[in-house]
Amino acid sequence: MKNIVLTGMMGCGKSTCARKLAARLALTAVDMDEEIVKQAGRSIPEIFAQDGEPYFRDLESACARALSERESLVIATGGGVVLRRENMDALRRSGVVFFLNRPANQIFGNVDMRGRPLAQNGKEAFLETFSKREAAYRGTADFVVEEFSSPEATVREICRLLEGIVWK
Ligand code: S3P
Repeated sequence: MKNIVLTGMMGCGKSTCARKLAARLALTAVDMDEEIVKQAGRSIPEIFAQDGEPYFRDLESACARALSERESLVIATGGGVVLRRENMDALRRSGVVFFLNRPANQIFGNVDMRGRPLAQNGKEAFLETFSKREAAYRGTADFVVEEFSSPEATVREICRLLEGIVWK
């Protein structure tokens, strides 16, 4: 069975929704950041501080490639996965992509941003990061999800969208 891939900004709820969606569809949830941390044996802030963002992006690309070779996963991507075309080309070949378009100004201030090195420069910078990425999120998604009243509601919406397509 193909994979389900969740993209979107830091803090939009990808990891929570991936776990709930995987439980509902009897698939396996995988979180890219957790995979990277496991393999590197260091936290995301440590990787950024010690080796810099380009090094982290290389780990992320290797992770995207490896997960794309697997099946029956619900993949919670890192928010920056769309920055490299090769990542999304591989993930798109492996399954269906949902962009969780939770408004960035709703995320910032409501979600705990500790442990996210690229969300440490205030709300304006966060909103700018989103506006720089928005086209990539939209352009690489099969579906854009706009339902965020609760994680359960988001998952129900994804399931509703899945019903309309042949994805197995
Ligand atoms: C990043 C998002 C993070 C993590 C890293 C960089 C980004 O993942 O990969 O801190 O560039 O948006 P989450 O989206 O899970 O927070």
